[in-house]
Amino acid sequence: MRGIGTPACGVPLFLFMSFPSIRVFDSRDVAVRELACEVSELIRGRAAQGRLVVLGLATGNTPLPFYQELIRLHRHEGLSFANVVTFNLDEYLGLAREHPETYWSFMHRHLFDHIDVPASHIHLPSGTLPEAAIPAHCAEYEASIHDAGGLDFQLLGIGGTGHIGFNEPGSPKDSRTRCVQLDEITRRDAAPAFGGLEWVPTRAITMGCGTILAARRIALLAWGTKKASILRAALTGPITEQVSASFLQEHPNTAFYLDRSAASALEARRETCQVS
Ligand code: GLP
Repeated sequence: MRGIGTPACGVPLFLFMSFPSIRVFDSRDVAVRELACEVSELIRGRAAQGRLVVLGLATGNTPLPFYQELIRLHRHEGLSFANVVTFNLDEYLGLAREHPETYWSFMHRHLFDHIDVPASHIHLPSGTLPEAAIPAHCAEYEASIHDAGGLDFQLLGIGGTGHIGFNEPGSPKDSRTRCVQLDEITRRDAAPAFGGLEWVPTRAITMGCGTILAARRIALLAWGTKKASILRAALTGPITEQVSASFLQEHPNTAFYLDRSAASALEARRETCQVS
């Protein structure tokens, strides 16, 4: 049994199990303040040593309040991102980069345009390459992460199929950055943003499960009852390629940041998760 240290800020309710740590908060705002506090300490600590820090970033609605908190820290508490290098998890294939639903657009709209991260430090997979160039691009993406020193921190959400990044059911634990086919559930979840299922891309490039699991620290965020049952599968079900988030059960330094609704199916299972 592994305990969890006292948080630097905020007073969340903790659930204890071996791996990973599960942290349940009264609200998502408190959760993201806590996580942003941890990340800002990492960034400032590295800056004090004159070193870069490598952050793996995620898209979706879930991380939006976290990005808003990072922007607030930048604007009002002097947090600089000048020493931050970013790698995004994934990108749709087949959309022009400036399409409003690309993850490139999303990240600029919701984070990069509002902080001082150098443009040369920002990395996302390209979704516009000719078919023949994709495998080499994926290998280069992996090499860039490696050359940057590996991911110090990886932010995750969780998809309806239990995916992390776009690692849909059947993604091997040791998979690396590659082109994937999107699951119908994932495409249906994205359909409202695209104005209909027919506009949602069928493929994407994603970091693999192995790429993500190599991160030294991982934080998965989830809010709302819609995520409750898939979180229960990921955290208390078997470790399986069918639910790529279940691989996080074996990662030695992962924390799940949940609001009470997202954790509701876990709290009902006291035999696996003890409420402190
Ligand atoms: C997409 C992204 C995932 C994200 C998921 C959930 O599939 N590739 O990284 O976790 O959406 O999105 P949301 O946070 O909007 O529920």
